[in-house]
Amino acid sequence: MPADLAHFRKITKGHPFIMGRKSYLSEDQLLSDKLSIILTHHTTDRLPHNCIRAESLGEALSILTEEKEIFILGGGEVFRQSLSIANHIYLTLIHAHIQGDTYFPEINHLQWRLLRQDFHKKDDQNRYDYSFIEYTLG
Ligand SMILES: NC(=O)c1ccc[n+]([C@@H]2O[C@H](COP(=O)([O-])OP(=O)(O)OC[C@H]3O[C@@H](n4cnc5c(N)ncnc54)[C@H](OP(=O)(O)O)[C@@H]3O)[C@@H](O)[C@H]2O)c1
Repeated sequence: MPADLAHFRKITKGHPFIMGRKSYLSEDQLLSDKLSIILTHHTTDRLPHNCIRAESLGEALSILTEEKEIFILGGGEVFRQSLSIANHIYLTLIHAHIQGDTYFPEINHLQWRLLRQDFHKKDDQNRYDYSFIEYTLG
């Protein structure tokens, strides 16, 4: 939804992304204005400007050691591997029941503290109610 995309652009501006190969190839692909690291075990065709490939999460993080904030963009497989190294979660909750085939992992609510939860009503441009939620560790 446009409001979610605008929110995403605002919080990620100027920061690098890490994403799985399937998210990179998906039709709703999102790239960083700084650097996007695509995780894959395979060689890739030529990548666009500001995109590089890494063969593991460790390799991706080692490229980004100077960065203050790194956004893990998913998808499900990459979220499952990286939840244990994250210290902040930006979650957009769309208040709708929609069938899916890819899931964000369950989070342990004893570990994550709710920082913010802003509810927004649907409007002409955003077809469902939605909430911007933030969790931090501890
Ligand atoms: N709503 C959201 O916030 C959101 C966000 C992102 C994505 N998505 C959706 O999620 C779906 C894709 O998710 P997914 O779980 O199927 O796939 P994914 O996590 O995007 O990508 C999985 C692929 O990434 C590579 N990979 C994963 N871990 C790796 C590692 N440790 N080292 C090297 N390569 C690694 C592998 O590529 P190779 O097979 O090439 O080795 C693997 O097949 C899409 O439909 C996308 O639209 C939704």
